[in-house]
Amino acid sequence: MKKVFLQPMTVRIWHWVNALSFFVLVATGVQIRYRDIPNLATFKTSVDLHNFFGFLLIADFLLWFAFYVFTGKIRVYVPLNPKKFIVGALRQMRYYGYGMMIGEKDPHHATPEEKFNPLQQSAYFMVMLILMPLQVVSGILLWDIRMFAGWIAMLGGLRVVDIVHVVAFFLLTAFLFVHVYLTTLGRTPLAHIKAMFTGYEEVEENE
Ligand code: HEM
Repeated sequence: MKKVFLQPMTVRIWHWVNALSFFVLVATGVQIRYRDIPNLATFKTSVDLHNFFGFLLIADFLLWFAFYVFTGKIRVYVPLNPKKFIVGALRQMRYYGYGMMIGEKDPHHATPEEKFNPLQQSAYFMVMLILMPLQVVSGILLWDIRMFAGWIAMLGGLRVVDIVHVVAFFLLTAFLFVHVYLTTLGRTPLAHIKAMFTGYEEVEENE
């Protein structure tokens, strides 16, 4: 086996702060929206926690964005070659849907330049470059609806901004279930998760 360095320190810090904030935001967001479900905290505590972790997630998102843009590594998130992307995505789907169950090897070999397979790449692109920005902007507008009244009106009103925030929440939560499942499909169930703590992924010498 050899070790490949895939996750720089900034990415690891961003990722786990993001995951923690995300869980608190989902739990408190549900408390705020669905007032008749059993409450874990008072409405005010839920709002205060939601605001605090919302801003923590925004700061963390800016850290992620600055890191990837200034190092030029943002291209790992962007499918630049359509043909390669389609062929790779089909190959990866076949692996997840069939090959994996008959003991085939994962067709994608992660390197620092191509650390995502095409399915990860498109999912992470949607999450980090479309859904998270929508969630962040709609969240800031909803945080102080009086101060941002003009912006909210310009975007179609409070109902539209609220729908964007809630739909993005549903899509991000759906992503999380699939994401956590897929991260257990490494060489061992915890291999990818361990790499998100240490930075290093273990791969076979010839990969
Ligand atoms: C308990 C929760 C979570 C676990 C166990 C987890 C685990 C992992 C692991 C092991 C990786 C690296 C391997 C891979 O790329 O498949 C990863 C990457 C990633 N995760 Fe998560 N994750 C969690 C929550 C989240 C959340 C809430 C989000 C976003 C809403 C997220 C977004 C991402 C992204 C964008 C990457 C790629 C990071 C990069 O290398 O630039 N994760 N996650």
